[in-house]
Amino acid sequence: MLKIGGITMKNPVVLAPMAGVCNPAFRLIAKDFGAGLVCAEMVSDKGILHENERSLKMLYVDEREKPLSLQIFGGERKSLVAAAKYVDENTNADIIDINMGCPVPKITKCDAGARWLLDPNKIYEMVAATVDAVQKPVTVKMRVGWDEDHIFAVQNAQAVERAGGAAVSVHGRTRVQMYEGKANWDIIKQVKENVSIPVIGNGDISTPHDAKHALETYGVDGVMIGRAALGNPWMLYRTVQFLETGEIPAEPTPREKIDICMLHMDRLIDLKGEDVAVREMRKHAAWYLKGLPKTGTVRNEVNTKTTRDEMSKLLYGYIEEVEAKQQGKAS
Ligand SMILES: Cc1cc2nc3c(=O)[nH]c(=O)nc-3n(C[C@H](O)[C@H](O)[C@H](O)COP(=O)(O)O)c2cc1C
Repeated sequence: MLKIGGITMKNPVVLAPMAGVCNPAFRLIAKDFGAGLVCAEMVSDKGILHENERSLKMLYVDEREKPLSLQIFGGERKSLVAAAKYVDENTNADIIDINMGCPVPKITKCDAGARWLLDPNKIYEMVAATVDAVQKPVTVKMRVGWDEDHIFAVQNAQAVERAGGAAVSVHGRTRVQMYEGKANWDIIKQVKENVSIPVIGNGDISTPHDAKHALETYGVDGVMIGRAALGNPWMLYRTVQFLETGEIPAEPTPREKIDICMLHMDRLIDLKGEDVAVREMRKHAAWYLKGLPKTGTVRNEVNTKTTRDEMSKLLYGYIEEVEAKQQGKAS
């Protein structure tokens, strides 16, 4: 059972935090599809402290999303602790997560994200100060190390534990790897064997079988799924079902995919207004279309749409063509 602080998740399947993706619209869908825990996209500590409108909006949590983990990032202890205190006092998130995995130079050059991974002592001091300042459980999401020569995953996770952190999520890549190569689950296993707080394993879980394998082989307490859930919340549902029953539900039909894509868009419109939401949905629509037949034209056209109705007409028009072809084949 995945338990973080006093919160017990109904299953060990965790939606990874993803910037530009994990807003309440998608998180609610992940929840509808059974995820035990959903993580919000990272929010800047400075953005929160300067009361930047966009950052504060990112702290909104719908009650139906809970339990939810809200992630902050920053490179200085003082501002990170202050931002965590703000999240603690002003949001209904259940868990405060600190980002130590973001590999992007814009972030690491401010000592934030994966930059923390080079110094377990600094991690200890910052996490201890955060834990002292807040009521909610504090967790850390990290990569295994900065580069091949600086893999301090075990020391870093132990620092989190000593400092009172409630769990760690570990992505099995170094910062230098970005998203290349393969996640190293042996290091995730070493972390699990050397701390007693829950460890959530992350990296390259693409199928329900991968998730089961990770839980059984590496002993992790939870499995975090990122890219495989993009345009594919069924990945979460099918994984939860497989872990619970041993059976994997069928893949969705093309129409089911577009129905959920439209639900996603409608929730995003409620959140951000039609103009912004439809533009943001372009990338999601392309992800929902992945795996469907002959999507070249529709994927290009998605990028020209600016209203909900245009998008709906395009996507359902495409689905009707697909269904007509399928019926033609069947008869
Ligand atoms: C579009 C995108 C945005 C991401 N944003 C964040 C983020 O805000 N915070 C974070 O800790 N990790 C972020 N990540 C990393 C993921 O949480 C995860 O660690 C990574 O994708 C590996 O898992 P996967 O192989 O299941 O995708 C992001 C990844 C992607 C693809």
